[in-house]
Amino acid sequence: MARTSKWLLCLTLTTVLSGCIFGSKKETTTHENHAAMKSKVTEIKDTASAEVAKTAANANCDAELTAGDKMQYNTKSLSLKQGCGKITLKNIGKAPKVAMGHNVLVVKEADYAATMTAAMSARKTDFIPASEKVLAYSKLLGPGEEDTLDLSKLPAGTYTYFCSFPGHASLMKGVLTIK
Ligand code: CO
Repeated sequence: MARTSKWLLCLTLTTVLSGCIFGSKKETTTHENHAAMKSKVTEIKDTASAEVAKTAANANCDAELTAGDKMQYNTKSLSLKQGCGKITLKNIGKAPKVAMGHNVLVVKEADYAATMTAAMSARKTDFIPASEKVLAYSKLLGPGEEDTLDLSKLPAGTYTYFCSFPGHASLMKGVLTIK
């Protein structure tokens, strides 16, 4: 074989080999990325299921809800045991009741919008509409006041709780699970 063609063969082989090496290296990197992504997804799933487990473990008979001058409840989800559930709402704010009163109403998720509309024109009864859709409610509370709702008669399910003081429900609203 001539010197040149030997050199060419060698060059060709080198190119093929290095192609293989780089090719497999690239593949490995992709696999590593996939593995990293998979573990990230697993991590997120684990966190979510841990959160669910925590909520389930916290399902109890007494839940405390607080509300203050920031127009928010302390939590947007509550979990109660079926047959014994109670929610105690405490107004921990300082603003007068006429400006920043808080209450809590419990309704089926599907009844939320209709109940909100009815509450707007129920000023005389502290924004509690006379409706069977209101499954439980507290008094409208001023600073330092509290009231407890008895939810022991509610069947297991998912409900909505909210403050019916005008303008509050967009921020003061949460999901109640009874199980
Ligand atoms: Co409120």
